Amino acid sequence: MPALAHRTRVIQRSRLHEMHRLLGQPGLISLANGAPAVDLYPLGRIERAFAAALANHSPVALNYSLTEGFEPLREWIALKMRDASIECTAADVLITNGIQQALDLTGRVALDRGDHVIVDDPTYPGLVDALTAFEPRFHPIPMTDNGTDVERIRSAIARDRKNRPFRIKMVYVIPNFHNPTGKTMSVADRKALAALAEEYNLLVVEDDAYGDLRYEAERLPSIKSFDRSGNVVYLGSFSKILAPGIRLGWVITGRRVLEQYVRAKQAADLHTSQLSQVAAYEAAQDCFFEGHIARLVTEYRQRRDALVASIETAFSVETCFVFPQGGFFVWVDFPPVIAAEALFEAAIQQRTVCLPGTWFHLRRGGEHAVRISYSGATPATLAEGVRRLAVAVDTLLGISR
Ligand SMILES: Cc1ncc(COP(=O)(O)O)c(C=O)c1O
Repeated sequence: MPALAHRTRVIQRSRLHEMHRLLGQPGLISLANGAPAVDLYPLGRIERAFAAALANHSPVALNYSLTEGFEPLREWIALKMRDASIECTAADVLITNGIQQALDLTGRVALDRGDHVIVDDPTYPGLVDALTAFEPRFHPIPMTDNGTDVERIRSAIARDRKNRPFRIKMVYVIPNFHNPTGKTMSVADRKALAALAEEYNLLVVEDDAYGDLRYEAERLPSIKSFDRSGNVVYLGSFSKILAPGIRLGWVITGRRVLEQYVRAKQAADLHTSQLSQVAAYEAAQDCFFEGHIARLVTEYRQRRDALVASIETAFSVETCFVFPQGGFFVWVDFPPVIAAEALFEAAIQQRTVCLPGTWFHLRRGGEHAVRISYSGATPATLAEGVRRLAVAVDTLLGISR
């Protein structure tokens, strides 16, 4: 093998991605997937949107184009952002290959080797994968029942400001229906984080992958909506509201920071697939997303309710979880006699799979917790999946049924 870059030694294959192989096995009930329900993809709409993209926007849809993205789609996104209480224009929007690319670009524009990044503990492993190449130091901060512990973040930053030079460069959070815990940040904490971004002049990255999928009450204003400094980076995605294979996401932040994202993206891939962007724009016509998101909300709410009802009754040990107001996940804490990694193995023996909590912690933590996803199965299948998981729990406890 030729000599390769030092970073190849730090970048690991993503365990979550490797799971996709396992999840395809016949007869296995997946409570592990972070992807949207394949049965809820709006296939006909996507087919027509791609046909319209080619019919109405050729050769534009097939040509090279601006790094910032397809202007009419950026305009549509700018309007849509009012749902998250963000007032912006197309000029504030950069289109990316999903949020995942936006996370990689964040590393490129924000991080030098050894910079500190504050993350929730646990957090989305894809963030860790994306930033690891830039060799930062992660600074995981345990969550409270109300989500991100903004007070502890404030103390950590205040302590850090006594160092010369400062070490903490950014804070990464998922305020809506956090992956993996399903928790939601309060409005007061959102305001406080935006204020921290301003006071300490640091980036706060707001990953809103699940923002549209709220199953009760009103959508809360985003952190970005309280941002006066331009230091909050908002990340949105079409993955959960259209289909992840279309690979479309977006970045909204202050113009000077956004310009750096544009330069980094230009170097990385020139621009996101123009055909996908034009098709998403076509799909969005006639208020399609309003109806489609309403349908997704109804379906996922039923799935969440079915899963929660099963968890409440299925296990022979006491469990504890925070009820998710939206998104795809329930984080279930088991008593210390249940080891999450052993439960993962035992569950596979029972033909079901959910992910051990340890996979979402950077260091210690999650040893007795699992993330259960309800997005990918019908209520009946979810109930059967939890029943199998309960058998796996009993196997670990030596209880025979
Ligand atoms: C919190 C979070 N951010 C980002 C992503 C990836 O999003 P995208 O498909 O837009 O790259 C996911 C996917 O599961 C996620 O859970």
